[in-house]
Amino acid sequence: MDLSRKQYRFIIIVTTLFYLPVPAFAQSGYKSKTVQKFDVNKIYRQLTMDEKVRLLSGIQANPELSGGLPTLSGSGVAGYSTPIPRLGIPSLSFADGSSGIRISIGKIPDTAKIPYTTQLPSPTLLASSWDTKLMYQAGRLLGNEAKAYGIDIVLAPAINIQRNPLGGRNYEYYSEDPLLTGKLAAAMINGIQENGTGASVKHFAANNQETNRRTINAVIEEQTLREIYLKGFEIAVKESHPQTIMTSYNKLNGVYTSESSYLLNGILRKEWGFKGLVLTDWYSGSDPVKQAEAGNDLLMPGKPGQNELLLKAIERGRLDTNAINRNVKRMLQLIALHQQKAKAAVVYPDLDAHAQFARRAAAESMVLLKNKNHALPAAPQKIALFGVSAYTNNNDLLASTAFNPKYAKTLAQGLIGAGFTYNTGLQKQYIDYVAAQMAIKRQNNVQGFVSNAIPEMELSTALIDQELTNSNLAIISIGRAAIKGTDRKQEDDFNLSDTELNLIKAVSTKAHAQNKKLVVILNIAGVIETATWRDWTDAILLTWQPGLYGGSAVADIVTGAVNPSGKLPVTFPINYSDVPSAESFAASTRIDATESVYSDSSYVGYRYYSAFHKMSAYPFGFGLSYTTFSIKNLRVKRLVSNKKIQVTVNVRNTGAIAGKEVVQLYVAGAGKDSIMVELKAFAKTKFLLPNGEQRIDLMLKASYLSKDNDNALRRDDQRYFTIKVGNALSELKLKAVVTI
Ligand code: BGC
Repeated sequence: MDLSRKQYRFIIIVTTLFYLPVPAFAQSGYKSKTVQKFDVNKIYRQLTMDEKVRLLSGIQANPELSGGLPTLSGSGVAGYSTPIPRLGIPSLSFADGSSGIRISIGKIPDTAKIPYTTQLPSPTLLASSWDTKLMYQAGRLLGNEAKAYGIDIVLAPAINIQRNPLGGRNYEYYSEDPLLTGKLAAAMINGIQENGTGASVKHFAANNQETNRRTINAVIEEQTLREIYLKGFEIAVKESHPQTIMTSYNKLNGVYTSESSYLLNGILRKEWGFKGLVLTDWYSGSDPVKQAEAGNDLLMPGKPGQNELLLKAIERGRLDTNAINRNVKRMLQLIALHQQKAKAAVVYPDLDAHAQFARRAAAESMVLLKNKNHALPAAPQKIALFGVSAYTNNNDLLASTAFNPKYAKTLAQGLIGAGFTYNTGLQKQYIDYVAAQMAIKRQNNVQGFVSNAIPEMELSTALIDQELTNSNLAIISIGRAAIKGTDRKQEDDFNLSDTELNLIKAVSTKAHAQNKKLVVILNIAGVIETATWRDWTDAILLTWQPGLYGGSAVADIVTGAVNPSGKLPVTFPINYSDVPSAESFAASTRIDATESVYSDSSYVGYRYYSAFHKMSAYPFGFGLSYTTFSIKNLRVKRLVSNKKIQVTVNVRNTGAIAGKEVVQLYVAGAGKDSIMVELKAFAKTKFLLPNGEQRIDLMLKASYLSKDNDNALRRDDQRYFTIKVGNALSELKLKAVVTI
């Protein structure tokens, strides 16, 4: 039978659709084959050695057992564990989820519904909230969507330390500080896991650069490792019991973290009491035998040949079967947890409510860096809107393609939605320019949309002049994206390009000559230089990457619908050369580098700037509000029974606008040496009306102060510590001395 051209095309389309990555919910039929009661011991006894080994790697090592599960990751679910149908052992599904569940679009079987997901603000923006309640709610949202779409384990949160501003994956990490990181991560994990979905806290540990990320050897002395690079994981493990932990790609002091018994059997399990499952990052490490022995239970997503290697090692006595048995039991226990969860009914997520949450979370986390003469908030009016990223969506590039387009709002659309107007002629120029630049990128085979890879559009002085004459307020958006696998650079990335500087300068000059104000929006994935140009502006709002609904969230801050209450989770240095790891990071990110020597030791971020009285452009913990607060009446009470110190203050809204404030408690003398100041507790107030007051109790573990604790190495007995409290590292007005 001859097919017409049209019929032929139809068949090709249908065939293509069938081979798209299958989202996890489509596997629910597979799951229904599982036994009702999942008896770990009984199943364990029936497993052959061959099956045990299969159970410990993802299905890509076992394609013949995939049972219809897609064997290639891609834009869909990141991976599946191997099912053993003979014993009713189902597969677990794993999806990324740092700023939204990453699955591919399909249709949910038997319904007309599309599995849209919610794109949250980037992790660095969420962390700028300094709000554990908000993190918990964000986690619940992720858990809810994961469960609805059949995802068992969300591969988040990612909590490596932002050691250097050029770290390419900083946007997915929280902070330069381990306590802030650990507390926020614990809240996020508690939220994700509330409905039985598992979290996977990653990348354990010391994954602080992207150049040669699969092989680089991080060289870190033990005290620094424990105080800075492990502390966040330790807090998360102890305070939220993540179901799983993902090891990192890199080596740590010569050994791949996924092959390090010292790290996994020792520190993680023996010292911290971690009871969950450890899985590898995708295709990481070099020796599955060492990984199994080290207690890296599950090898993801599974490599062909891996199982054969393990079986051969067992046969030859090179791999202890006890290690395999121990790992298998952990795997079965994790599956058992998910069997219990499977009984609960799955409800389609309330995407409208989730989008509203994403918008609120973004707005409440943004950091107001400058606000001269109350330039903000600004009532809706005619604006001159400049910058490529004002007209495009510059968000987390790792994000899923399954986000609900209904909520996509660029800055321009968000401002229009709030009642602002602008010249659509200029908008068209920007949109045409972006389209032309994208076409060039496609021609050169550059993947993905990276708005900072599109150079800022050059504008003539005449055009700038005309735009300002026809409007009342100028807004410039500066955009920066970043992506895993690549570190950022100083030129035209950390430092602004000449075109960007010229644009800010020209708009500033014209605007101020006409008595109009200039607001700069920083829609950036990582820290940039601000000291050169900040004096040319009236206000600077740091929005990081605010998620799909971000344009509306920015508009909420600009209009004052939301009073900013975010604080910096990282320091903004004056120059790149001021960064304590400037040189060592640069050396470790040369293309042929095999080693990254952490010669900055524990002096990461503000620990360095404060100890050595080095000025920064904007210090850690800094962030302005449209109102003012007083923090007063510091009281210190020792709770001997549970070895805690309770520090109490009263926060009062002393301005005319309602808002929230973050109280930050730092301790001097508890860290590497007596000059180091460290964050030891923080809390965000509730929404305080003008004159409203709230008592804030901060709990300080005595063990956070003593050096003979928490596995810290022994040092000289130092028993006096100064507690400092305020609303930024640079504003610590309340002080008390405690002894241990
Ligand atoms: C990333 C992980 C991620 C995994 C699966 C890896 O390249 O480093 O963070 O979870 O891919 O997508």
